[in-house]
Amino acid sequence: MANTKIVPLCLYISFLSLIAVASSFSPTDHYLINCGSGAAETFDADHRVFVGDDTRFLASTRSIQLQSSDPPSASISPLYHTARAFNHPAHYVFPIGDRGIHHLVRLHFYPLRNNHNDLYEAEFHVVVNEFLLLRNFRISESDNFPIIKEFVVPVVSDELKITLLPSDRSRFAFVNAIEVISAPRDLIADVAQWVDSEKNERIYGLLRNGFETVHRVNAGGFKVTPFNDSLWRTWITDDEFMVSNEGSETVRFGGRIKYQMGGASREVGPDNVYNTARVIKSKDNSIPNVNLTWSFEVEKGYSYMVRMHFCDIASVSTHMLYFNVYVNGNLAYENLDLSDITNAVLASPFYADFVVEGESSGNLAVGVGPSNMSWPRAVDAILNGIEIWKLNNSMGSFDGEVCVDYAWRSWRNGHTGVLLPLIAAIFLLLSASVFLQRRRNVSLGWSRLPVDASESNLKGSNQLSSIK
Ligand SMILES: *[C@@H]1O[C@H](CO)[C@@H](O)[C@H](O)[C@H]1NC(C)=O
Ligand SMILES: *[C@@H]1O[C@H](CO)[C@@H](O)[C@H](O)[C@H]1NC(C)=O
Ligand SMILES: *[C@@H]1O[C@H](CO)[C@@H](O)[C@H](O)[C@H]1NC(C)=O
Ligand SMILES: *[C@@H]1O[C@H](CO)[C@@H](O)[C@H](O)[C@H]1NC(C)=O
Repeated sequence: MANTKIVPLCLYISFLSLIAVASSFSPTDHYLINCGSGAAETFDADHRVFVGDDTRFLASTRSIQLQSSDPPSASISPLYHTARAFNHPAHYVFPIGDRGIHHLVRLHFYPLRNNHNDLYEAEFHVVVNEFLLLRNFRISESDNFPIIKEFVVPVVSDELKITLLPSDRSRFAFVNAIEVISAPRDLIADVAQWVDSEKNERIYGLLRNGFETVHRVNAGGFKVTPFNDSLWRTWITDDEFMVSNEGSETVRFGGRIKYQMGGASREVGPDNVYNTARVIKSKDNSIPNVNLTWSFEVEKGYSYMVRMHFCDIASVSTHMLYFNVYVNGNLAYENLDLSDITNAVLASPFYADFVVEGESSGNLAVGVGPSNMSWPRAVDAILNGIEIWKLNNSMGSFDGEVCVDYAWRSWRNGHTGVLLPLIAAIFLLLSASVFLQRRRNVSLGWSRLPVDASESNLKGSNQLSSIK
């Protein structure tokens, strides 16, 4: 591969000012809603205060408050004792003070037993402003509960409107809890490195995109719960994603993580992610010929942003660690020298964003391994954390080749409302064309004409019924 040394320029520029940051993030917009709850305040397991979903936020009169019929249990967060269900489209509207930046939206789903609805019967769409988040969403017995769907979407208007739409008139929607939090400005950057087998180039414009978190892991470390994360995220352990950890070890660092201005902030990654890692180390004075590789399941047909978190907590001295970074088997970053990027400060965190196409397979592979600058008798590769985000497609959707209008059409028409006339039309046209073809076969011999005509008719009828 004819790759030259890939070093995003902005990394240097942003590290020019070497100031240790004492971070205390307080989001401008911060809404924590316990849906269906009449209580003014509910504390979740991480001591956060959720308020009831009264008319300040809920713009819908036709809804059902659901209360768990099971006795409260200590193992289930109080958030999941209540929910709200909707037979009609409903909005939650949140005034936005921090306009023009991304906002985190988390939706919680838990199948509480209640006297009104069997929540396994729910099927619905969720829309946030111009983004379609979920389409024909259902929960199933085999899911792990609670299901928490996390999105990070740009908000340009002065409100963030979450719309829940039953997928047709016989269905209903529900939600247990909602979080809307302005993201720190440094959480999403406009640039990333595009990596595939042919290219490794800088791309811009990511600030226009929305992101859905699909994987978030703490490499070589423990699970990090919202309690220990300034953005209330969950980072799970990486064991189930490891493809090859041959020759690797985990390391744990007891010192202070040195967050620097321009590097990763504590909001980008918490201490508990940066103070553990998986590493490859030289043995017997030689560099092991191995890679550390993780593999993540992703849905085909979308682009993904892979954020890799690095913090050299393993080297004994600076400028001894050089390694290569791979995404989907392609060289993403060659001879990465963390000391160079962090101005020769060890234990100082840094992240790199790569965008890849999830087209080819349902898996996304992330790896690190020794480079041809690695030293014997040193650490030869390191990785502290991995995040994988799905990017919205060009229709503004995270869930299929449809746009927000689809959700509204589906509700208005109902599935049967569209399908039955359509099937009837297709059937009529098909029988007509067979009839015509037979007649022509008799009189003129074979002709394509009737088939063409029936095709164009079909397209026409399809469009009509979808505009309705
Ligand atoms: C938070 O982090 C500290 C230090 O790593 C750990 O001891 C504690 O158990 C964590 N708390 C939770 C609730 O995860
Ligand atoms: C490490 O991974 C890269 C990319 O898949 C590959 O080219 C290289 O051969 C691997 N090295 C080893 C030792 O497997
Ligand atoms: C080391 O990497 C450089 C840059 O890709 C390459 O030109 C060179 O051939 C490599 N050296 C070895 C020994 O593989
Ligand atoms: C995601 O949606 C935004 C806003 O609609 C759009 O500008 C952007 O192009 C979309 N992303 C992709 C990858 O199409």
